[in-house]
Amino acid sequence: MLVTAEHREASRYAPVHSLPATFRQLSDLYLLAEGGYAPIRGFLNGSETRAVCETMHLTSGEPWSIPIVFPIDAQTKAEIASADRVVLLDGNQPAGTLWIEDIFWIDKELFADNVFRTRDTAHPGIDWLSGAGEYSIAGTVEVCSDWTLDIPGGLPISPREMLARFAANGWRKVVGFQTRNPMHRAHEFCTKIALETADGLVIHPLLGETKGDDTPVEVRLACYDVLLRNYYANDRALLAGFPAWMRYAGPREAIFHAQVRKNYGITHFVVGRDHAGIGDYYGPYDAQEIFSEFEPGELGVEPVFFDFVHYCRVCEGMASKKTCPHPLDQHVHLTGKVLRRMLREGCVPPSEFTRPEVAEILIAAGRESV
Ligand code: ADX
Repeated sequence: MLVTAEHREASRYAPVHSLPATFRQLSDLYLLAEGGYAPIRGFLNGSETRAVCETMHLTSGEPWSIPIVFPIDAQTKAEIASADRVVLLDGNQPAGTLWIEDIFWIDKELFADNVFRTRDTAHPGIDWLSGAGEYSIAGTVEVCSDWTLDIPGGLPISPREMLARFAANGWRKVVGFQTRNPMHRAHEFCTKIALETADGLVIHPLLGETKGDDTPVEVRLACYDVLLRNYYANDRALLAGFPAWMRYAGPREAIFHAQVRKNYGITHFVVGRDHAGIGDYYGPYDAQEIFSEFEPGELGVEPVFFDFVHYCRVCEGMASKKTCPHPLDQHVHLTGKVLRRMLREGCVPPSEFTRPEVAEILIAAGRESV
């Protein structure tokens, strides 16, 4: 059903159903309404969802790699059967309206096989999908003028704010860096190498929902802040927030992460080793190889690929196997497990791995997860 302005006006006084929205759903609502997910403006319908799963394109032919859906259970579907819209609630506060175009059954196996490339419920994306309702509401959205997404840190999170900043700075070639972790020396190296060829850099951490054992947003924000203040040129590097939630979909999510950054004015996007990956579900460079499935220029953002980055004692600097000929025993690298143990025990990791200011914050936060 196409929702026209006349239709909205006519139905303004009809009884309205409200639905409590999860933090993930609110993230998607915000990004849809703010143009962060352009060309998508609403939750996808059944045929678009299938097309995205099967072809990584919308039926219009535009690229899109992860369906944006609004799952509901069968009982909710029955309750809103005759409604033309639902008001989405953030706690008790109305956040926006979803105009119901369609309610469809989600083919979860199709979704899992194509987007996550696994059906293993130990994968956090499959955990979400299997726990989500079987149906999804499709339709365009509007947000209430007095609502915004509650993201800690007070950073700019909308495309509008970032586009204005780039215009004010006169930046045309802008590198974007996605991260869901505290930033270590390898992350810093990738961003700085990429910045050398650009006008500006945006450290653009994902600040929506992540899995429970990832480092909490407040701790990460403190790490980004201290790193930027101490190690980046403040007229060239900007810290801003990406309010999406983490799917852990590896290659598919790398495409999604890159493509939506275009809406934020980012022209070049860093994709390193195992981008958006988790465990052994994806090969270390699957998230780079998937870019070759798109035509040059099709995504509107240029990926900037990095091999695995390490510190080399002989080179006396950060490098990858593209630039460093020395054997592994000359590399400084800590596994996540070793790093977590060190931080738990209050040991400062080598400065070749992480900046001491960042390590201090992580130790103080007393978290196991880093
Ligand atoms: S992600 O889920 O947001 O991708 P993370 O914050 O760890 O996770 O990584 C952010 C970016 O840095 C990703 O593009 C990732 O591939 C890249 N990256 C992280 N560590 C390294 C490394 N040692 N070498 C190369 N790239 C890396």
